[in-house]
Amino acid sequence: MRKVNKAIIPAAGLGTRFLPITKALPKPMLPVLDKPTIQYIVEELESAGIKDIIVVVSPGQEIIGKHFSEAAVLEKRLLSEGKTELYKKATATNGFNVKFAVQKEANGLAGAILSAESLVGDEPFALLLGDELLCAKDGKDSCIKTLKDIYEKTGKSVIATMEVFGSDVEKYGNVGIGKEENDVITVNAIVEKPHISEALSNNAVIGRYVLDGKIFSMLKKLKPRNNEIYLTDALNELAVSGELLASTVKDDRYDVGDKFGYIKANVEIALKSKEIGEDVKQYIIETAERLKK
Ligand code: G1P
Repeated sequence: MRKVNKAIIPAAGLGTRFLPITKALPKPMLPVLDKPTIQYIVEELESAGIKDIIVVVSPGQEIIGKHFSEAAVLEKRLLSEGKTELYKKATATNGFNVKFAVQKEANGLAGAILSAESLVGDEPFALLLGDELLCAKDGKDSCIKTLKDIYEKTGKSVIATMEVFGSDVEKYGNVGIGKEENDVITVNAIVEKPHISEALSNNAVIGRYVLDGKIFSMLKKLKPRNNEIYLTDALNELAVSGELLASTVKDDRYDVGDKFGYIKANVEIALKSKEIGEDVKQYIIETAERLKK
């Protein structure tokens, strides 16, 4: 079975929900505590042993590349001052092979994937949406590692799903469940953001996938709907021919493309910080008391 060595991170977009900061700073560089959101995604890939990463950006956002390159002056200074912990932080993002593909048109997720085609070739690849951070529970594999293992065992494309309820069902791709064996579900259909009355299940597609390279030619054959081609349409073709699997994820998930989700991610990750976690906890407790009054 083919190994998964490459990943695509679609991260293009104007970031209008975060204006004005996104005027000059690309959205993937917004920090959660002290790391840009894109670094969390790259670390999830590292946990799966995937180091060849293609970030799909909008024109002008190549500055993200600086974060994944050497910062010679800074590194030299930290070393000469013996600041080894800071040196480790400054160099942690140097070891990845990060390339950039520019998405020239705002033509959605399928457009982003096709922008990266020439850098992926016909290989299977991981796909991680840049707006979603996933934190695995202690001792558990990361989501993308789980999907990679399933692909490498079966040769079938595989998506991550999470249970959602009520009106949240309408915000996501929605999955029809076939047989389930050892926590791996065979998907029999998939629809994009259905009306709740037409949902196939409570299983929502979240932003992690491992896809076979044949998805590129499938995407190119699709007819646009609302002037856009949809990844979900290609996934549905795989599903009806029994070639799509899913794994249900129990990780903590933060939608950092949304302001409230972004704040939640910052609070949760700050609470886990050795440096300021205890202070943040005390502050939250005191604030909660004050708000109750
Ligand atoms: C995309 C996918 C959708 C998936 C979602 C996960 O939608 O099209 O199937 O459920 O990501 O976040 P978007 O949020 O880009 O509209």
